[in-house]
Amino acid sequence: MVEAAALHLSEVSDRLEERPVLVLDLGGQYSQLIARRVRECRVFSELVGHRITADELRARDPSALILSGGPASVYAAGAPRVDPGIFELGIPTLGICYGMQLMAQELGGRVDRTGVSEFGRTALRAGKSELFRGLPREQTTWMSHRDSVVAPPAGARVVAGSDSTPIAAFEDPARSLYGVQFHPEVVHTPHGMELLRNFLHGVAGIPPTWTPAAVIEEAIERIRTQVGERRILCALSGGVDSSVAALLVHRAVGEQLTCVFVDHGFMRAGEAAQVVETFEGHFGMPLLHIEAQERFLARLEGVEDPEEKRRRVGEEFIRVFEEEARRLGRVPLLVQGTLYSDVIESGGTDGVAAKIKSHHNVGGLPERMEMELVEPLRLLFKDEVRRVGAELGLPEAMVWRQPFPGPGLAIRIIGEVTPERLEILRSGDAVLQEEIRRAGLERELWQAFAVLPAIRSVGVQGDERTYAYPLVIRAVTSEDAMTADWARLPYDLLETISSRIVNEIPGVNRVVLDITSKPPSTIEWE
Ligand code: XMP
Repeated sequence: MVEAAALHLSEVSDRLEERPVLVLDLGGQYSQLIARRVRECRVFSELVGHRITADELRARDPSALILSGGPASVYAAGAPRVDPGIFELGIPTLGICYGMQLMAQELGGRVDRTGVSEFGRTALRAGKSELFRGLPREQTTWMSHRDSVVAPPAGARVVAGSDSTPIAAFEDPARSLYGVQFHPEVVHTPHGMELLRNFLHGVAGIPPTWTPAAVIEEAIERIRTQVGERRILCALSGGVDSSVAALLVHRAVGEQLTCVFVDHGFMRAGEAAQVVETFEGHFGMPLLHIEAQERFLARLEGVEDPEEKRRRVGEEFIRVFEEEARRLGRVPLLVQGTLYSDVIESGGTDGVAAKIKSHHNVGGLPERMEMELVEPLRLLFKDEVRRVGAELGLPEAMVWRQPFPGPGLAIRIIGEVTPERLEILRSGDAVLQEEIRRAGLERELWQAFAVLPAIRSVGVQGDERTYAYPLVIRAVTSEDAMTADWARLPYDLLETISSRIVNEIPGVNRVVLDITSKPPSTIEWE
């Protein structure tokens, strides 16, 4: 599985994303971030496993290499290594933290445990240098190391140091080898991006041409080549990934594409209408809007178990989609909004840490229907997908739509899903969304939504005793949904949300706030 994905990826990129900057993943926590930062410099970059050989690297013809951070020590048992032959290829190479130490160790320098470690913000002084060109002589950098380079590689010059680490950066322009002990990729190194630009544009001479417009042009070429004259289907969910993927495919092959929007009835207020209006109305794309609300509700009758709900929604989705697809005759291709982070997480780069994402909205479709996948976003990170979406003219609300689970509101009702509970949750959630938007917090939050636990509690409204549902407010900040913190929403905002919900929505007499982070909780309640 891992090898197949890696092979597929490099085939794709060999053809079109010519001469990438390759980030060799040595297992550090910022490897992905380095690749993203390079792309922010408008240079295409990919993450590859550190076991790649010098021959394989040469075949990829990268315009530069970056060795990421890694474990605590180059002397640790099983510490990741690279093929030393890669330093002979003449490719401009930057080692970061562990990557720098590995270069020193392989190239005739020395790394020692000096007894002085640096963690956090550290003052750095730099001399004349290519990497530090135009940067202040003194700057703050982010360090995280125990071992230090005590002798640079043979022939390399020391160009920066800190109080406790005299060798914090070295350069060997003749061999195009560069190393920095600190992390230029993190925001705590304020001049880090300038240093990366100096390396990419200055040292390696790579022009900043990887823009959303260029990405679109290349994606269209690639889609046309793969699809040819054949027909292609897309399961549109209204999320930013499937929307951007559909728009790209439509740009590339026009009416050969049919979008199927299976409306399961668990979307938020106004979302289904927005999908139809945007794709059919605004973009004039062929769209089948399948109103399957009744079917999905029937399938969930009496079901309380979260996994069972998810399973049934997923299964019903496939069933409805298959029925519609059959009506269209044989369509051999299916669009899928797989992102680069999904590829990395499923071990597609032969990365050191391999994780498998457990939920995918259209999981099971391609196998069952024997369809070939077209994955136009396979090389893009989420923020790049948003930028491409904006460039393609996708409405702002869709470009910036927060993540939303495939089974939608069905897994935000804790207990059986009924039309009454759906209506209450949808209205409460709409109030929450409106107030969050009004407070200007929408983009700061990873997600904010309402949850309806199907229990009742006692309240009093007017002079009457009530016995009604509570609504839970769940708002989190996060970088990648793997971990999350509960958002410290202002009390006044919480007050407004709470009083609007209990006053405007019959059936709710209490509003509570979820103040747990992930872990130990998850973001969703089911
Ligand atoms: P949890 O609840 O596991 O969620 O912390 C992590 C992120 O994944 C989203 N999520 C889903 N996304 N299909 C999706 O595409 C799903 O079935 C699904 N379930 C959860 C969740 O909203 C959060 O952003």
